Amino acid sequence: MREIQIESPGRDYRLVGAAAPRLIPGPGEVLIAVAAAGLNNADLLQARGLYPPPPGASPILGMEVSGVIAELGEGVGGWKAGDRVCALLPGGGYAEFAVADAGCVLAVPEAIDLVEAAGLPEAAFTAWTNIMDTGRLAASESLLIHGGTSGIGSLAIQIFAARGHRILTTAGSDEKCQAALAFGASRAINYRKEDFVAVAKAETRAVGVDVIFDMVGGDYIQRNIEAAAPWGRIVNIAYQKSFRAEVDFRPVLTKRLTLAATTLRGRSPAQKQAIRDALLREVWPQLGARIKPVIDRIFPWEQAQQAHEYMEKTGHTGKILLTF
Ligand SMILES: NC(=O)c1ccc[n+]([C@@H]2O[C@H](COP(=O)([O-])OP(=O)(O)OC[C@H]3O[C@@H](n4cnc5c(N)ncnc54)[C@H](OP(=O)(O)O)[C@@H]3O)[C@@H](O)[C@H]2O)c1
Repeated sequence: MREIQIESPGRDYRLVGAAAPRLIPGPGEVLIAVAAAGLNNADLLQARGLYPPPPGASPILGMEVSGVIAELGEGVGGWKAGDRVCALLPGGGYAEFAVADAGCVLAVPEAIDLVEAAGLPEAAFTAWTNIMDTGRLAASESLLIHGGTSGIGSLAIQIFAARGHRILTTAGSDEKCQAALAFGASRAINYRKEDFVAVAKAETRAVGVDVIFDMVGGDYIQRNIEAAAPWGRIVNIAYQKSFRAEVDFRPVLTKRLTLAATTLRGRSPAQKQAIRDALLREVWPQLGARIKPVIDRIFPWEQAQQAHEYMEKTGHTGKILLTF
């Protein structure tokens, strides 16, 4: 099979196609003939040697794929060869075949293009577990999603708008704000022109927002605290601006806020399966109707290097994919 290897990991890494022996799924695993792999920032960091895969994971890049089931490992039921699926992986997605834990595999409904489905798993798992499990978003509560046109933000807005939540979101241009409104946000804030704290207050009769989903960090840490409602929950999945900030914790105390941050990749298969099951129950029935993957650009696997360079420029809206 073909796979994409990292030549000279580090700042000047190169992604090159190489031949590799076909994989064999172990007990509890499935082998997927990959149609497409989704790109993630973690892939860029891993290629630069800054983010090693978790123990036991494939050293090949790629944390999400779509494709068809090629083979079942021992003890796996409920699937057959040829089934259309997408899956969350700890690694190994940049290849013609990928092995997935059966608990991280989801069916791709006919209404969703098989290639485009590669843009679903990482965004859906991350948005759901951080906003629902960690953020404890309750019915009728408000939600602020930073990075509303990011791979994760573009799907998160659709998922939670479909569940009836009022969503405020931030993005870095008027065009991106328009896109975020089309995904279902009630108010999109161009953070280069408007102060999201002031808008969040104005939009909630000065109460603030119940749950804030953040990938920015830095000065957003204090500003999120200011924008949060009493008993609000702020959940970070990244700190792209900075991991460091000087913070006045007084409003955390007086508003009884919760600050949290989580990662997905290193969680156990059982923890990931629990998220998968919640997605199947709560989100998948609306796929193709109210919720669709947002795909910015699709590159053939031979152009993996160009795909990474394109992602590095951060102009995209939604997901970038590689086809195999
Ligand atoms: N913790 C976890 O388990 C987990 C899982 C998956 C991903 N992540 C991380 O979550 C982040 C988002 O992932 P993704 O795939 O959705 O990324 P993505 O598509 O590359 O989007 C990144 C977004 O961040 C926004 N952004 C970057 N710097 C910003 C700044 N200084 N101020 C405001 N907004 C800024 C950009 O918005 P504009 O273009 O509008 O400026 C862009 O929409 C990445 O850092 C990724 O590594 C974490």
